[in-house]
Amino acid sequence: MIDKATVQKIKDTADIVEVVGDYVHLIRRGGNYMGLCPFHNERTPSFSVNRRKNFCYCFSCKKGGSPVNFIMEKEGLSYHEALLHLARRYGIKVEERELTDEERRRQSERESMLVANEWAMRLMEHDLTETDEGRDVGLSYLQGRGVTDEAIAAFHLGYALDRGSHLTGSALKAGYPLDVFKQLGLVGTSQQGRDYDRFRGRVIFPILNTSGKVIAFGGRDLKGGLAKYINSPESELYKKSNELYGIYQARSAIVREDKCFLVEGYMDVIGMWQSGMKNVVASSGTALTDGQIALIHRFTDNITLIYDGDAAGVKASLRGIDMLLSHKMNVKTLRLPPEDDPDSFARKNTPEEFRAYVAEHETDIIRYKAQVMLAEMKNDPQQRIAAINSVVESIAHIPDVVSRDVYIRECASLLGISEEAIAKAVAKAVAEVVEKRRRERMRREFPEAMQPTPVSAPGTDVAGVSGQPASAPALPHEVRQQPLAVGLRTQVFPLARAEQALMRYCVRYGYMPFCTQVDENGSEREIDVLEFVREELDVDGVEYTVPLYAKMSELLERMRGDFADAFARERAAADEEAKRMRAEGIREIAARDLSVDEIRREEERLAAVIAGRREGRLSDFRKDWPGRELLSHENDEVRREAAELLRERHHLSHIYSREAPAEREEDRLEILVPRSVIELKGELLDIRLKELMKELSEAVDKGDAEEEHRIDVEIRDVMTMRKEIARDMGERTLSTP
Ligand code: GTP
Ligand code: MN
Repeated sequence: MIDKATVQKIKDTADIVEVVGDYVHLIRRGGNYMGLCPFHNERTPSFSVNRRKNFCYCFSCKKGGSPVNFIMEKEGLSYHEALLHLARRYGIKVEERELTDEERRRQSERESMLVANEWAMRLMEHDLTETDEGRDVGLSYLQGRGVTDEAIAAFHLGYALDRGSHLTGSALKAGYPLDVFKQLGLVGTSQQGRDYDRFRGRVIFPILNTSGKVIAFGGRDLKGGLAKYINSPESELYKKSNELYGIYQARSAIVREDKCFLVEGYMDVIGMWQSGMKNVVASSGTALTDGQIALIHRFTDNITLIYDGDAAGVKASLRGIDMLLSHKMNVKTLRLPPEDDPDSFARKNTPEEFRAYVAEHETDIIRYKAQVMLAEMKNDPQQRIAAINSVVESIAHIPDVVSRDVYIRECASLLGISEEAIAKAVAKAVAEVVEKRRRERMRREFPEAMQPTPVSAPGTDVAGVSGQPASAPALPHEVRQQPLAVGLRTQVFPLARAEQALMRYCVRYGYMPFCTQVDENGSEREIDVLEFVREELDVDGVEYTVPLYAKMSELLERMRGDFADAFARERAAADEEAKRMRAEGIREIAARDLSVDEIRREEERLAAVIAGRREGRLSDFRKDWPGRELLSHENDEVRREAAELLRERHHLSHIYSREAPAEREEDRLEILVPRSVIELKGELLDIRLKELMKELSEAVDKGDAEEEHRIDVEIRDVMTMRKEIARDMGERTLSTP
């Protein structure tokens, strides 16, 4: 237990920018900081850090919180452990007192699992060197494979004695409840109901997370049994796809060398580590996952895949590279001599020889892929095309345009194809990749909108498409309380509510940059909120049904020219102001008695302040302009509606406000605006569906089978459209800035 005052001190001292900065490269944006979220894989930063509120938050995966929350999540620690972690980080002394029995009972399940794993690891480490069986069987095996004492200690290698219930018995004797050990997969239960040690007779490779906690074990068989390795099952502690063997031992070396080697096996990690290549981790025989890549990416951008030199190794090294490339990692591959794996190669060669081999044979992954493909494709045109397409596909996964271009040129000469042809193919593939990503994102963000609309008309079964639950599609909706005027309006215009919600975003944020669009040539163009909405409506031929909104929409479009002029003037004024502030600031700095270094620092600070201020001024101007214009428009109705739309409403759904107090509507436009468009289109289709259902029942009454069939077909069309609105929108846009 940490006393209250110390807890407070830790909380007061921990600075969110510093704490997050240990893990994430942060970029200053206005008064806040942004970076790539450390909790999920992303290409555009959605992770925001608010220094003033000492709070961080991912707009995409919604994780974050205070420095303590962040450390809990990031390091997989309990609240208490996270406080200790931060205390260490800031050199705050913590006097802990003994836990009471009650407190010990209350320790979380996670913590007791960690304690049990730690205990088991120590036991098996001990048994490896301090028992006859451990020495004769386990240790002699490891020594036979050239594993040093130093590596055994660093990796906490152990041995599980080959007696049915050595660990089980010791655990009971030490007062641990067996349940935890069963959960952890250390103890199994036989069909006869007897408990036994699952890892017995095996050499033990503990798997540590980045902060050195034992989260799982791998056990290697020594007797030629069926399973060469058994591993701990997935548990609260161990999510296999997010962990890498060796990361704890490798992390500082990875940072130091700014590079990470990835191998396949436990023994490969240990072999290379012994040979001085300490920046090495293993995916433990499974295909690399997003989570594992993100883990490596925390420490470096550079990864080198080392696979066995045989044919299977070559194939394996080409798997998963598109995923690595999407993560903006620089990926290289190292091919070993055909007879070697990393472990044997490390033992055969001195560290210097190993390094020299790396320097000479490390190949950029795309170049490598092109070479392998080139070697494979004989003169069969089919094969040739497939190979080229596969290389093109990989290039398309690189997010950076400039790097793509470099590869296009290189592969053109390598594959003997014109640059233009490859460039074209890449552009097309990029559009596809972009579409795919966007679609995945839409699926995540608008799961409801992706569902077919349930239709329930009493007594009618829509053949083939029913079976959906008949509840309304409940999209979260922010503008719930409607003013009276809209209430009346909706009686005449059923879509008024949805149109108003959309118009509200247009009036409030119309000229704010919104997203990047890709055309079929793969070129990108930035559009603002208003353009986005306009295009989304045009694509489906949707018009505002409320004349006032149609008019306002047109006004906003027409005002864009005036806005551009006004904005240019504002920018000139802002530049002028910046110049003045700079001159004043420099004078002031010069007047002070400062060293050259201090002057440089002060001037840099000044430049940052001025730039921030200029940016803020321009962004406010851009945001406020359309609203201001409409508020002073000659038409009464336009003025009144603009005032209504610009009024602050303090009824953000409490779910959002609870999750993220720091969140502002304008930071979430990326989600809110598309959602609002989808709602409008959805409602439109719902109205059409209702009409069709009515027509259908009339046709049924009249016994007009032909008509019935026609309507039935149209109903299905409309329902398909309803299902596809969200997806189609995703295909037209790329990403938000
Ligand atoms: P050695 O054979 O002792 O050199 O082990 P290794 O670590 O080099 O293993 P290998 O290259 O054969 O396999 C790579 C990795 O795949 C291993 O480290 C394990 O993580 C995993 N693996 C291999 N065999 C098995 C198995 O039978 N079961 C499970 N669960 N994993 C395995
Ligand atoms: Mn091996």
